Amino acid sequence: MIYFDNAATTYPKPKTVYQSVMAAMTEYGANPGRGSHAMAIEGARVIYETRELLAQLFNLDDPMRVIFTFNATDALNQAIKGVLNSGDHVVTTAMEHNSVLRPIKEIEKQGVENTIVQCASDGRVNVKDIEAAVKENTKLVATTHVSNLTGTIMPIEEIGQMCKRKNLLYLVDGSQSAGVLDIDMKKYNIDLLAMPGHKGLLGPQGTGVLLINCDSVIRQLKEGGTGSESSSMVQPDFYPDKLESGTHNLPGIAGLNAGIKYILNKGTKSIYSHEKKLIDLFINEIKKNPKIKIYGPEDIDYRCGVVPINIEGIDSSDVAYRLDTEYGIAVRPGLHCAPLAHKTIGTDKIGAVRFGVGPFNKKPEILAAAKALNEISANQ
Ligand code: ALA
Repeated sequence: MIYFDNAATTYPKPKTVYQSVMAAMTEYGANPGRGSHAMAIEGARVIYETRELLAQLFNLDDPMRVIFTFNATDALNQAIKGVLNSGDHVVTTAMEHNSVLRPIKEIEKQGVENTIVQCASDGRVNVKDIEAAVKENTKLVATTHVSNLTGTIMPIEEIGQMCKRKNLLYLVDGSQSAGVLDIDMKKYNIDLLAMPGHKGLLGPQGTGVLLINCDSVIRQLKEGGTGSESSSMVQPDFYPDKLESGTHNLPGIAGLNAGIKYILNKGTKSIYSHEKKLIDLFINEIKKNPKIKIYGPEDIDYRCGVVPINIEGIDSSDVAYRLDTEYGIAVRPGLHCAPLAHKTIGTDKIGAVRFGVGPFNKKPEILAAAKALNEISANQ
């Protein structure tokens, strides 16, 4: 199988990730933070070390403000619903995934207002449009770093500066960029950074992270056992326990630990540069075909990780099916849980075929995918 569905979940992972998951299951698979024996202590150590690695990668001072969640959706829900109250206003963009749009629409029912800023047809947003949407009661700006549909890189540094100037909280959805692009929470004035563990961070599914770089009150969305303050029936008020109830996903976090070590060792610059070269080659190979429509920014400097396309006259699901069954190539067709992003690029009725590259894809795989698309378009 040639795997180009990395924007959904990266595959394969570094070997050390598989080994670390196995070691957590077989060597110290106790309940971390819940006992004082050696296995529980080793589990807690691995979890704390993973917080430190994440704080290092994203330049956050306090590892105790690294919150483990089950995926990016969980982290985004926690951030959005944890900070916004009735009467507040949030600004977001049309390029967001449903994991941002749906929580925002849900809390509209409780009196949280929102404005969804429109983007250009290549997915790019104008920071001035975000600024123009800010009102007196705006508390939060929430944007993706990279669109999961078009790969468009959003100007998070400029948005962060604007938020700082206007004293607004800034939440970044790093689902498609964490582990690939440089994200410096302090330099970019990011207050809240949400991400999955199973994409660019190369960890297992069932892992996600919310990093907190602000002192605003963040309400927990659930209460339960934390292994701390056990005599109290009230949720602890300190991080990370306040936002982490119940037993951790230790095997997942151990795998994530190994994924982050791989990234820190390799460097995001090298990972990004590899992926950028692959995307550039892919676009150059298919753009000569008049039957193939490529979406997203023309300038490769504004695109990260993904290339969505359509072949004239063929449904995106049929293209994906043929790639899978005739060529052994894995992609994701359809609407990618991003309805407004599809509307923005004009594919809300037809969907698109998304190619997402990862750190282990190679040039011959790109050439094989381009050849397959050219053949499918010629033999409809
Ligand atoms: N959010 C993931 C995607 O874009 C699953 O495919």
